[in-house]
Amino acid sequence: MKPLGLLTVVFAVIQGAASQRVKVDREVQANPGETFQLRCKFEVVQGISLTQVSWVRESSAGRENIAVFHPSLGSNYPDSFLKGRVSFVSPSLENPSISVSDAKTSDSGTYTCEYATYPSGTDQASSAVFILAKPQNNATTLPVLAGKDAVVVARCESAKGQPAGQVFWDTTAAGDQSNTTKLENDKTVSVVSEFRLIPKAADNGKDITCIIKHRAQKTDDIYKMKLAVQYPPTVSISGYDGQWYVGRSNVQLTCVANANPPPTSFEWTVASGQMPKTAQIIGNKLSVPKVDESINTTFACEAKNQLGSGQDRVTTLVTAEPPPGSSATSSIIGAIIGILIVAALIATGLLLYCRRRNRSENGDGPPKYKPPPPTRTGGSTEMLNKSHGVESQPLDYFDTSHEPVTNLDADDDDDDENVPNGNSGARNGLEDPFHQSNSSSRIPVSQPNLPDRFNQQEDEAGHAVPSHIGRGDSFISSAMLV
Ligand SMILES: *[C@@H]1O[C@H](CO)[C@@H](O)[C@H](O)[C@H]1NC(C)=O
Repeated sequence: MKPLGLLTVVFAVIQGAASQRVKVDREVQANPGETFQLRCKFEVVQGISLTQVSWVRESSAGRENIAVFHPSLGSNYPDSFLKGRVSFVSPSLENPSISVSDAKTSDSGTYTCEYATYPSGTDQASSAVFILAKPQNNATTLPVLAGKDAVVVARCESAKGQPAGQVFWDTTAAGDQSNTTKLENDKTVSVVSEFRLIPKAADNGKDITCIIKHRAQKTDDIYKMKLAVQYPPTVSISGYDGQWYVGRSNVQLTCVANANPPPTSFEWTVASGQMPKTAQIIGNKLSVPKVDESINTTFACEAKNQLGSGQDRVTTLVTAEPPPGSSATSSIIGAIIGILIVAALIATGLLLYCRRRNRSENGDGPPKYKPPPPTRTGGSTEMLNKSHGVESQPLDYFDTSHEPVTNLDADDDDDDENVPNGNSGARNGLEDPFHQSNSSSRIPVSQPNLPDRFNQQEDEAGHAVPSHIGRGDSFISSAMLV
């Protein structure tokens, strides 16, 4: 087992041109406290003699010799920051690799393996050494006030990393990041990244994520945050639908305030100065159990938070009578429609019931009526016209005095004579597209519409039943109807 904690990434990259005969690792990584190796090799060629080899650390402070080997004078380690921690692995001109123990972050830098040769002169290659230092990361958002100037809304820090941590931002908020980098005494790097934007109320609560990558981290550090922008209330009053009338019950105004921090108070005022007795105020709600003339006024609501206040007002016009098409009217219409739907459902149920009964009366014997061959007199256009005709006569549905159920019962009788003439008349009228245009002018009050709809369903199922055939069409399976 190799006692070295060497994290060699790239091996033996020839640097420079073909004349470059020195080979080193381009990049060497190690953790603090570990021992790492700097490998170096000279490709021996005839005609070149090697006289001496040395290792130099190059930094902004200059060049510093750390190890020298001469074939006859041996190894030497000049005074340097590595003194006592550096040694040649197997001292020779061909393989002058060195080993450095107890790695420190300050050992990071560029190390050059330098040969003195004859006759071509010096030849060299460099390794970049990273003594990894895992950065200390953190992130925070700064609560800001909505305003016109760009301010720092979030900060992300990667302190004392080697190499420097990489900071990324991810947000939908429109802003910019700016980084400041500081080189620490131990050669680690601290990075502070700030995210700036012009804070608007709409930015409050937006997601902002800071991601810090570093090669000493197994995974990226991800900080999910939310922007905190504070702003005074913007207020709107909801609940007035423009249809308040004397006697209307249970109306309510709501004072909707958008604010951060949330509003601390709501204050309702009225234009006349005296709050009507019929108005009940609870927080941001103003309720009126029974509308009267005193509500025919203008209400204002003011919401406050620590940063300021916002106001809205609404004039609640009260009419003496319910306006046409008001909720009272529409509820009557709704009730009528509901009754009609229920009636239609009852009719359907009865029809199905009668068919079943019919079938059981007939027993297993052959049906009394053979289905006539399908006659496609009008094709799909006819059907379209028919369905359109039914829809364009919604008034028929209001004619509840004609009991469709009774007619259905009569229809169900196997006697053709019992078919109401109006029924066949309606069918003829509907089937004729030219008569169709007149249908609205002669609303067939005497024709129950519901049976017609069932006839139509039969037609849609592919059984074009001539109008003279009775309605007790027991050969039509109920499955088709359902
Ligand atoms: C409410 O006030 C308006 C004028 O502001 C007036 O025309 C209307 O008649 C009033 N309604 C009632 C019910 O008094």
